[in-house]
Amino acid sequence: MMLPDLISVIVRALSFIALFQAAGIAIVIALFGGLFERSSQGIRNVGFVSAVAGIFLVALHYALEAARMAGSLAGVVDWHLQSLVLDSPMSAAAAMRLSGLALIAYALRRDGLVPALLGIIGAGVISVAFTLVGHTADEGRSMWLGAILSLHLLVVAFWFGALVPLHIASRVEPRQTAAQIVEQFSRVATLAVPCLFLLGLVLTFALVNGWAVFTEAYGLLILVKVGTFALLMGLASLNKWRYAPRLVDSDAAVSGFQRAVVAEYLLICIVLIATTVMTTFFSPSH
Ligand code: HEM
Repeated sequence: MMLPDLISVIVRALSFIALFQAAGIAIVIALFGGLFERSSQGIRNVGFVSAVAGIFLVALHYALEAARMAGSLAGVVDWHLQSLVLDSPMSAAAAMRLSGLALIAYALRRDGLVPALLGIIGAGVISVAFTLVGHTADEGRSMWLGAILSLHLLVVAFWFGALVPLHIASRVEPRQTAAQIVEQFSRVATLAVPCLFLLGLVLTFALVNGWAVFTEAYGLLILVKVGTFALLMGLASLNKWRYAPRLVDSDAAVSGFQRAVVAEYLLICIVLIATTVMTTFFSPSH
């Protein structure tokens, strides 16, 4: 692997974490913003910082594409290669990601219905940006596949984006409020998270050519996603059935809940990194 490839994939993985953190917090604030009392400002700050970091990382990843083409970091200042990147779908995808992040950064600094809607639009724009590049955008693919990918990503954003708010709320809010927030979140997550898996399955079987792919890097990384998803479901169930019902009156339940949330966060980061490697270097069709 060349140095520009290595730097580019690291920047891309970090940009995924920032994008989904920012988009997720925008969704959570729009859906449950009214429930957060003492924790609202802290959560908005995390979303804002993620959006700003995302803007920097998306721009850096875009600039590095010419270096990947050249096989050397000097490619960043090769204007001929940069103009080739500018003419590719990558520039529209990067522009959409940057506008989505800018909308979210703006929205999270303001209260009210309109900013909440702008935040949701920002998250939507980011999820659609993924459909302009990558395997679902390959020639001959149906537009439906893009729609399925966008939905897959909106659920990822909601789930991943809710973890920091839940952790902050469990530390800062009165117990009763925190328990109510967790209950509301888990009501939506119980429906949304199985959809994430089903949408992932549909994407997999639409993209791959046959079972042989599961002996190759692309398929093995899909299996890593599925395995990590199973662990995540275990943690989510532990939270829902064991800790959440006792949050109001048990310190042990609160710290168990917080540990499980941190573990879920790290596992989703692992899936995001695996997905970045999978879609940067490997193909579903050979
Ligand atoms: C927490 C769990 C998951 C996360 C965080 C996640 C994240 C993502 C992300 C960020 C992408 C977009 C990649 C890109 O376009 O560059 C993606 C695409 C995809 N995901 Fe997931 N995913 C999860 C679960 C799953 C599961 C369980 C499956 C399979 C059953 C799956 C299958 C796929 C497939 C096939 C794609 C399209 C990849 C491509 O374009 O080649 N995902 N996922």
